[in-house]
Amino acid sequence: MEKQILNSKDFSENIFEMNELAENIKHRLFGLDPVSALALLGKSFPGKIVFSTSFGWEDQVITHMIFSNNIPIKIFTLETGRLFPETYYTWNRTMEIYGQPIHAYYPQHQLVEAMVNKKGPNSFYNSVEDRKECCAIRKVEPLRRALNGNDCWITGIRAEQSVNRHFMDDVEWDDHNKLIKFHPVFNWTLDEIKEYIKKNNIPYNVLHDKGFPSIGCAPCTRAVTPGEDFRSGRWWWEDQSKKECGLHTV
Ligand code: ADX
Ligand code: SF4
Repeated sequence: MEKQILNSKDFSENIFEMNELAENIKHRLFGLDPVSALALLGKSFPGKIVFSTSFGWEDQVITHMIFSNNIPIKIFTLETGRLFPETYYTWNRTMEIYGQPIHAYYPQHQLVEAMVNKKGPNSFYNSVEDRKECCAIRKVEPLRRALNGNDCWITGIRAEQSVNRHFMDDVEWDDHNKLIKFHPVFNWTLDEIKEYIKKNNIPYNVLHDKGFPSIGCAPCTRAVTPGEDFRSGRWWWEDQSKKECGLHTV
């Protein structure tokens, strides 16, 4: 039987100790395939480990790993209210195929109403500040609630997705949210992701076949041309350096 990799008393307020803890976990996961790593983390953080999905390629691979191996990790999505119809279809299809729950977190309606009543439904195009306000209300605040009380957060981030992400690590201490973050397909290439999807017949968002390598909210995502950066279709009207929605602090 796999040994647990930590117990709750290992968490402390000291960032250096927590970075060390992330290093220890990284060491324990070294050489494991993503399914074994997820299974070990599921056992190590019982009831305190979650996976966030936006139903993109990478997320569908991880969802398949979790559901088809009955790994005890709760899956949730941030339902911003501005997703593509294709994303809702993928979400529904995934629930039908695996017959397991995907928990939705919604923004607080008072905050959305106040913003939209004051600035209109598309305020994100006005300025970086207004765009960040929308992301804060529709994504970041619900994310805080989804992560609350958990010790480990799984995501579909890959190094290849952007220059910033290249400098991340597959296991990290997230000092902002005070938990361990793990990206199981961090070192996979897009071709490896696509192959896995094909081989396992995993449902995926059809927008990926229409030039959308990265899919977020509908008004803030557009198709890219071959050779363009993976994330260049996200908030495309903004300066490259400002493109952070606040979910992931680098
Ligand atoms: S973002 O920061 O630009 O929005 P990106 O779309 O690259 O992130 O997705 C990276 C990871 O963040 C996904 O694999 C997923 O784990 C998480 N994520 C992004 N958007 C959502 C969402 N709407 N709901 C849940 N998780 C999300
Ligand atoms: Fe709002 Fe666009 Fe951010 Fe979605 S991606 S929360 S619509 S600003």
